[in-house]
Amino acid sequence: MTFKMINQKTADYFNKWGRGYSDAWEPLARRGLSGFETGLVRRAIERGLKKSGGRLIRTLDIGVGTGRITKVFLDYDVAHFGIDVSSVMVEHCLGKFGGSERVKRLEVYDIVNPLPDDWGKFDVVSAIRVLPYASQWREALKNIYQALNPGGVFVFNFPNKYSSTIVPMIIKSGKDQSYASSYGELKQILAEIGFSQIEITGFARLLDVFYAWCNGKVSAGILLATERFLRMVLGPTLFARLLYCTCRK
Ligand SMILES: C[S@@+](CC[C@H](N)C(=O)[O-])C[C@H]1O[C@@H](n2cnc3c(N)ncnc32)[C@H](O)[C@@H]1O
Repeated sequence: MTFKMINQKTADYFNKWGRGYSDAWEPLARRGLSGFETGLVRRAIERGLKKSGGRLIRTLDIGVGTGRITKVFLDYDVAHFGIDVSSVMVEHCLGKFGGSERVKRLEVYDIVNPLPDDWGKFDVVSAIRVLPYASQWREALKNIYQALNPGGVFVFNFPNKYSSTIVPMIIKSGKDQSYASSYGELKQILAEIGFSQIEITGFARLLDVFYAWCNGKVSAGILLATERFLRMVLGPTLFARLLYCTCRK
């Protein structure tokens, strides 16, 4: 498939990670976070199925990585597609899921380009931990809107600039926060594009390094209990490091 590779640096970065990206999800605390994310994707798929009136739904996972989210889609009876800028990640997922009848296409593609017409439209689209890597994430959101069927569901996440996310950003790139957003800004951008029923929730106030460190039952339990407590006190999104949006076309 021909397209303009705009995010070559990201592709190179994830080509180096390769299958090692799965290891990042091994610590027990990270598995708790992963459960939250896969739960949101499941709910999005189930919403898509509910609206389908029994017809086979078409689903798309953007930024397949090592397949953590793709695997969730394949638990359902769907016609599934996947893309990633990293050829290593696509090869890896083809090795893992290429034999499944549910997988229709898994290809290298940069979502900053509009999806080709011959891919058709989708009922459920996910982009978990993908858009923050593209400075052109607003363009990507427009492309995703175009790729959805009317009523189609889109689920994605994005760092919250009003949270501890700001610490690594300041260290790495001074004042540049173009890869983070906020509850209000995301709602506005999504509504301007045309999305409706925009729901935003959040997760994780504590820094990501703690998630990487907490691999024992006790430490992971304390970390996740602290997160639950902070959520109870602050609500779902205030100061949450990650914002999760579910919306419809
Ligand atoms: C952090 S990984 C997340 C993988 C998977 N979604 C998950 O949550 O486990 C980000 C993935 O998105 C891909 N990616 C980043 N920018 C992209 C873009 N513009 N178009 C398509 N894929 C992209 C990367 O190559 C990488 O495999």
